[in-house]
Amino acid sequence: MNLSYFDGLLEARRQGLVSDHVHLGLFVAAGQTLATAQEAMSLHHLRLLEVTEGASVVDVGCGFGGSLRMLDGQVDRLRLTGVNVDLRQIEVARGGLWRNPVDWQLCDAAAFSNHRAAWVDRILSLEAMFHFPDLAGFFAASARALRLGGRMVASTILFGPRADPASVAVVSAGFGPWPRPELGLAELCDMAHSAGLAVLQVEDLAQRCLPSFEWMCPPCPAKLTDNPVIELRRLFEAGAASYPLMVLVPQDQAGGKTQK
Ligand SMILES: C[S@@+](CC[C@H](N)C(=O)[O-])C[C@H]1O[C@@H](n2cnc3c(N)ncnc32)[C@H](O)[C@@H]1O
Repeated sequence: MNLSYFDGLLEARRQGLVSDHVHLGLFVAAGQTLATAQEAMSLHHLRLLEVTEGASVVDVGCGFGGSLRMLDGQVDRLRLTGVNVDLRQIEVARGGLWRNPVDWQLCDAAAFSNHRAAWVDRILSLEAMFHFPDLAGFFAASARALRLGGRMVASTILFGPRADPASVAVVSAGFGPWPRPELGLAELCDMAHSAGLAVLQVEDLAQRCLPSFEWMCPPCPAKLTDNPVIELRRLFEAGAASYPLMVLVPQDQAGGKTQK
């Protein structure tokens, strides 16, 4: 399945105009560019993922493989898996040299594990869940795939109750598929919990993502536009969009340290 908003990104990647990180940046220090903030975003996720030598790591919705490539450069003896529905992205991601073996899977997020149990140590999904048509299935597959001692870090973009429906419609059409724009954090956590995962931590990165938009689009005009980047900026600036990052573990190893 080709995601249409990736048509331009793939061309820009071929021309070397964009990096292999297809997500907002995390602005935590003075003087950051969008590129260094995007690296900081991946690093923040990876720090929370706590990957150690010898681990098997799956990145679901892996884009051009930027986060997996960072890990590949940092940790030895990994078994990496990149999952995506868009073959064109996988072809870009698999290019170049990899130090650790990588398995590329062309499938939906809910199908990445193919019903296998207890074979993964770490699952990452960075800014991708808003696309997934079967989030409950994704959490169920993840809960089943994680080994004892396993850990998962997943982030997404959500709209709050104050979000202007007209802006949300432009964003969810422009960055589609976005099957559940009305989804809230409570329901997301409930889905994870019902699948057998404990939510150890949730942090909202939205405020620290905001400067990304200065690199990506002009300021928002007063009136609604048909530009999904501008309308996403409008929702972030209005405090009507959040960027939750969740740290999850199998419930039987949470030992009471859970938010739910
Ligand atoms: C905003 S991009 C983030 C890419 C990558 N995680 C990164 O940080 O650079 C969202 C990614 O989710 C992928 N995606 C969309 N729908 C998916 C699905 N149903 N299953 C798996 N991946 C999906 C897209 O193709 C894209 O690579």
